[in-house]
Amino acid sequence: MMLTKLLRVEKEDTLLVRGPARIEPKGEIYILGMNLAEGDEVVVREHKIMPVESARGAEVVLHLGSGSGYSYEKGYGAKLWAKELSKVVPNLDESKRVMVVGETDSGKSTLTTLISNLLMGMGMYPHVIDADVGQGDLAPPGCIGAKRLRQKITDLRDLEADRFRFVGLISPNGWEELVLDEIEGLLSEGPEIVNTDGYVKGKGLEYKLELARRIDPDVILLLSDEKLPGFEDRTVRLKSVPFGKGIPGRIERRVSQYSKFLKDAKVRRERLDAKRLWLLGHGFRHDGEWVCGDWRLALSNLTYGAIIVRKEERLIELGMKDMAGMFVGLGHEEVEGFGMIRWARGRDASILTPVEEFDTISLGAIRLSRMLDKERNLKVLLY
Ligand SMILES: Nc1ncnc2c1ncn2[C@@H]1O[C@H](COP(=O)(O)OP(=O)(O)OP(=O)(O)O)[C@@H](O)[C@H]1O
Ligand SMILES: [Mg+2]
Repeated sequence: MMLTKLLRVEKEDTLLVRGPARIEPKGEIYILGMNLAEGDEVVVREHKIMPVESARGAEVVLHLGSGSGYSYEKGYGAKLWAKELSKVVPNLDESKRVMVVGETDSGKSTLTTLISNLLMGMGMYPHVIDADVGQGDLAPPGCIGAKRLRQKITDLRDLEADRFRFVGLISPNGWEELVLDEIEGLLSEGPEIVNTDGYVKGKGLEYKLELARRIDPDVILLLSDEKLPGFEDRTVRLKSVPFGKGIPGRIERRVSQYSKFLKDAKVRRERLDAKRLWLLGHGFRHDGEWVCGDWRLALSNLTYGAIIVRKEERLIELGMKDMAGMFVGLGHEEVEGFGMIRWARGRDASILTPVEEFDTISLGAIRLSRMLDKERNLKVLLY
């Protein structure tokens, strides 16, 4: 059921539109630093709120899908951060790096979108690194992505990364070094914005500080009241969105990313031993057995329900039956696309993927249901 509404947005208003919805401006409006006018159209995804503002007042038509809605608020959208950003953004240039830190649903991706649009308005092409392995915008879960933006956007999820780094885990917990290495590997020329995951308590905060030490940002935009020792002079505190926490559909939002990256997939039969297999930072080649330096990978016919890492023995054990449903990255050394292993047996595997040709498979702990709508992840046991 679609409901259509004609609404007016005054200068001091922020019209919050909750998806699924479509916005058609009838005059000049802006969404997160992107100007829109009659003839344009913006799609608001389910479980997402889009702030509509107007510098001089304008009308908009909303097409509202089921479960959607709207409300008028004061001080949201770009207005929420206008004062602080007016001090930060004019000082950004090609040499600058910004790190965005905040809790889950605090507004990190929205802030990243806004700053990106402002930088593009200044004639720059920001490089965005989506460093959230669990809940990213530019890459599917288990993966981090980076993209050079060239056009203003209203939702980072409309884009796909230019470069991917596959981790195969939905949380950096216990594997911080691995994830940090991958993030570092994506650093590029500025202006650069590094968006991070929402764990800012305890170990999560330690990890953010370690990331900050590694990437050495010029500014940290902090959407929470945490303290960042050692970075106080570079930290700018911003208000977080209060309604974020209550947003339903976090899991749906995450899981929906899988099917997006597996669109147009076909079943392909592959010889595993002709491929390179990456797992938890090691790239194994088959040479009688799977080896990578002094590490070995043992693929057995058993089911463990886990990936077993024996550090002392330099051995990773994985059951081939446990590979059924595994979400994988595919490419030629660098990940170019994604797939799901349907089954793996002996030397062979059947993989559902839109990637036509690849010589590298990045494995991990993420497994999906047949319909790609549920996760049933493997444990990773470290001995
Ligand atoms: N300034 C704002 N004005 C209005 N709505 C906002 C604003 N910032 C964020 N929102 C809305 O709040 C919700 C959460 O924001 P967002 O997705 O940016 O948070 P996040 O910190 O990136 O979350 P996650 O941890 O899931 O990545 C979104 O629906 C977003 O559209
Ligand atoms: Mg986000």
